[in-house]
Amino acid sequence: MRIVHASTLATLLCLLSITAHADPPSTIHPNLWPEIHPPKLHDAVLEARLDTLLSQLTLEEKVAQIIIADTNSASPEDVRQYHLGGILTGGNLGPVKNEPVPAPAWLVAADEYYAASMDTSGDKHAIPVLWGMDAVHGHNYIKGATLFPHNIGLGAARDPKLVRQIAQITAAEVRITGHDWSFAPTLSIVQDPRWGRTYEAYSDRPDIVRRYAREMVLGLQGKPGAKDFLRGAHVIASAKHFVGDGGTRDGRDQGDNVDDEAELRDVHAAAYPIALEAGVQTVMVSLSSWQGQKLHGHAGLLRDVLRSRWHFDGVVVGDWNGHEQLPGCHKASCPTAINAGIDLVMAADAWRDFHANTVSQVRSGVVPMARLDEAVRRVLRLKLRAGLFDAGKPSTRALAGEWRRLGSPAHRAVARRAVRESLVLLKNAAHLLPLKPKQSVLVAGDGADNVPKQCGGWSLTWQGRDLKNSDFPAAQSIYEGIRSAVTPAGGTAVLSPTGDFSVRPDLAIVVFGEEPYAEFFGDVPTLEYQAGSKRDLALLRNLRAQGIPVVAVLLTGRPLWIEEELDAADAFVVAWLPGSEGGGIADVLFARPNGSRAFDFRGRLPLVWPRGPRAGRDGDVFDYGYGLRYGSR
Ligand code: BGC
Ligand code: BGC
Repeated sequence: MRIVHASTLATLLCLLSITAHADPPSTIHPNLWPEIHPPKLHDAVLEARLDTLLSQLTLEEKVAQIIIADTNSASPEDVRQYHLGGILTGGNLGPVKNEPVPAPAWLVAADEYYAASMDTSGDKHAIPVLWGMDAVHGHNYIKGATLFPHNIGLGAARDPKLVRQIAQITAAEVRITGHDWSFAPTLSIVQDPRWGRTYEAYSDRPDIVRRYAREMVLGLQGKPGAKDFLRGAHVIASAKHFVGDGGTRDGRDQGDNVDDEAELRDVHAAAYPIALEAGVQTVMVSLSSWQGQKLHGHAGLLRDVLRSRWHFDGVVVGDWNGHEQLPGCHKASCPTAINAGIDLVMAADAWRDFHANTVSQVRSGVVPMARLDEAVRRVLRLKLRAGLFDAGKPSTRALAGEWRRLGSPAHRAVARRAVRESLVLLKNAAHLLPLKPKQSVLVAGDGADNVPKQCGGWSLTWQGRDLKNSDFPAAQSIYEGIRSAVTPAGGTAVLSPTGDFSVRPDLAIVVFGEEPYAEFFGDVPTLEYQAGSKRDLALLRNLRAQGIPVVAVLLTGRPLWIEEELDAADAFVVAWLPGSEGGGIADVLFARPNGSRAFDFRGRLPLVWPRGPRAGRDGDVFDYGYGLRYGSR
């Protein structure tokens, strides 16, 4: 028999008791988080009105206020019956049935939903419904809207003033169709570009994200305390996804972030305090986990940090059926999420049963009435703050129905400037760029005349797939931009996606890259571009082999391993996902037709660009901040 030394035994026992009492790894220590003081918006008159209203509502009405449903599953008639707190349009093609519609149909629908929510038959109380949309790069679900470069491109532009303007324009276009709320900005700090939402993030580090958080929130919502805060040309913003979504293991969407608490606070959460101080009124909860615990049930972060430590008095909104991922929950039932601090549950399609189940959970005390009241209070406070009770129907509000302003030349000019500023020049051998416009240019690659591809996901539909150029009225493809840059100067642009030609060109511009995707559809196991096929590499090499100088333009939502493509091109430009204004690319590639200089490159990598197929920061990379200028080689 082995003799265990008494002191060893004591140590063992001590260790055992520590493990037994140790907090789970997902425990938060709120006092280690900085205290935040958002602008004081307290208004006694508003609070009194809120108290009165709250005291009049039935349990059913209260529960309805904490639910947001997708317009594909909740019709105006449903809103009339239930008086839901909010509706959202996910990736639907149209506001009611999933059919593509012209922009004015959205405003008609906004009036219908609003009227339904104000209907007082059956002794219901008139409470205006909130309508939220993912206006994440402009009002991107609306035909004819201005589509800005996705966030990763704005990160490259390093231009906070421009971002403020983009937010203002987006808010204005959202108002034109009668909507109240945009699910933006995304404040993720992306750590592994294999993540399918990399392009929704501005950067892989907090610096840019913090600066932009402020500009986006102020641009969308206006200044807290000002007369036009959340109204007029402004909308409600949403900081998302709280928190740690950009740091999940292997870049897996909705995965687990295992960084320690300090890293969560100092990196992933870094931009939230700035957004709160700028007055952001809603925070959307992440579908991911931290240390194994889903954020939708994380009271430590939602309640103890966001509410108590950060004094956030706006609405904590759940993400799409996010509650169903909690233990013991499903789409149509989740007291845990409500109790953990979610005020508005995105029960997107199962809202009806969610309503019935929550009503009985409040009756049985599983969801305390006080918690329900708190959530309702926050939702109603937001509606009062935004002036929705007194705003009249959406079509009568500021900017509504001003179709001339939707995708107006002035708005598009700002988007085009954003494209110019976002471009990053990785290579410019023998100073091939800038180009003289008086040349014969072959414009090749399947991205050359492909507006859906240059817009990426979250464009007209969730995934941005199966669309044509004509679905984006007034947008300009990259080829069209090149053609209008060279033609007035006496040059020619010939479109040839496959790179074939009958008359030998002076040079070729090859536009290629990723197909559109959104969210987990975009998760990839490797960053290698076109692993297996290498079709575009062959195209570049083929042109090069014929002695034709080649300019490569890459459309991408993330850094890719493109080492061979880089070698096969004389000049290499990362254009990210530039959106509707493809002309911004020719603006930088070509000198003006009148002979004056081209715009110079301004973009700098907003994240490390690996020079290998694996993600991560090791090995050979283009560093954060890399980006050539015409003055440099
Ligand atoms: C996304 C959110 C988005 C929501 C509504 C979710 O799947 O994660 O970013 O705002 O859907 O469309
Ligand atoms: C997306 C929505 C989309 C829905 C489709 C969600 O995850 O965020 O935008 O419409 O899935 O099922």
